[in-house]
Amino acid sequence: MLSTTILGLETSCDETSVAIIRNGKLLSNIISSQIVHEQYGGVVPELASRAHQKLIVPIVNEALAKAEVQKKELTAIAVAVGPGLMGSLLVGVNFGKAFAYGLGIPFIAVNHMEAHIYSNFIEEPTPRFPFLNLTVSGGHTQLVLLNDEFQYKIIGETKDDAVGEAFDKVGKMLRLGYPGGPQVNKFAKQGNPNAIKFPRPYATDNDFNFSFSGIKTSVLYYLRDNKLRDTAIPEQLLADICASFQSSVVDVLMQKTIRAAKHFGVKDIAVAGGVSANSHLRSEMKKAADLNDLELFIPKFEYCTDNGAMIAEVGYRKSLRSMFSPINITAIANLEL
Ligand code: KG4
Ligand code: ZN
Repeated sequence: MLSTTILGLETSCDETSVAIIRNGKLLSNIISSQIVHEQYGGVVPELASRAHQKLIVPIVNEALAKAEVQKKELTAIAVAVGPGLMGSLLVGVNFGKAFAYGLGIPFIAVNHMEAHIYSNFIEEPTPRFPFLNLTVSGGHTQLVLLNDEFQYKIIGETKDDAVGEAFDKVGKMLRLGYPGGPQVNKFAKQGNPNAIKFPRPYATDNDFNFSFSGIKTSVLYYLRDNKLRDTAIPEQLLADICASFQSSVVDVLMQKTIRAAKHFGVKDIAVAGGVSANSHLRSEMKKAADLNDLELFIPKFEYCTDNGAMIAEVGYRKSLRSMFSPINITAIANLEL
């Protein structure tokens, strides 16, 4: 059998990541998360692109070495071309195009959001079409129906903040550092989710769109009304705020996903994107799926946040269908699914 060996490159935000998949099997997935942004409380685009530039060659070499694959054995280069930060994307896209051109092999453009969906296909078992995917990341919140491979129908999305963004902003209000999501999740474990009643916008509405800025603002008002904005928050109260906020958000995500699955008559549901690492979301979705006789798929932790493996997975699947891209393709910061 002829080998299909794909190198996948991810540089859309602040992770520089490279993975290699051969004949559907992941051989390496090297992820370098840039820590330079922590001191600024968020990603600084210029610093992100500079860090990608510094890291890309060593990480490509590390991924090849770990996979025990020679450059000349690669059969295509797959790269996230958007959505993301323009300067960051350009590093991966230009490197990937030059690499593919130099090796005389095809270039495969991958949408970062489709790649998140395919993070549930890196390892068995995988969802069966048609299925419904809830993508929850720092920039997006989408419910996507896939009737078949590469057929995306967005049936709902956020009208304002993305879920990850809301987690990060609440983390910032609580002075938990950046990114706030994992920290809020950590503190929530010791808290009471019923301590404070935050809103659950659109939870029972009949469409499948979301809104998270209202929940975020209610946390701000709670802190302001209780004079907690400029003083240290007692540990138990901090845990209760985190647990109550997290519970509102997860409740909305869970209710909408289950209702959409019933509405569209699918049996398999999947969750992907950085926020799918959230332990409360994972356990609530599992309970709800079992209760409603649905099969749930959530990626392993290393495939939830940005990674090269999900790019290589899409690249592998597109390569089998000869879905190659022209070499004059460029990065698109606001690329849609
Ligand atoms: O998918 P991702 O790595 O990057 C984007 O494509 O945006 O998602 C990053 C987002 C951040 O907002 C981060 O705070 C959030 O995922 N996140 C979490 C958790 N781990 C990462 N949010 C809540 N709980 C977590 N455990
Ligand atoms: Zn992402």
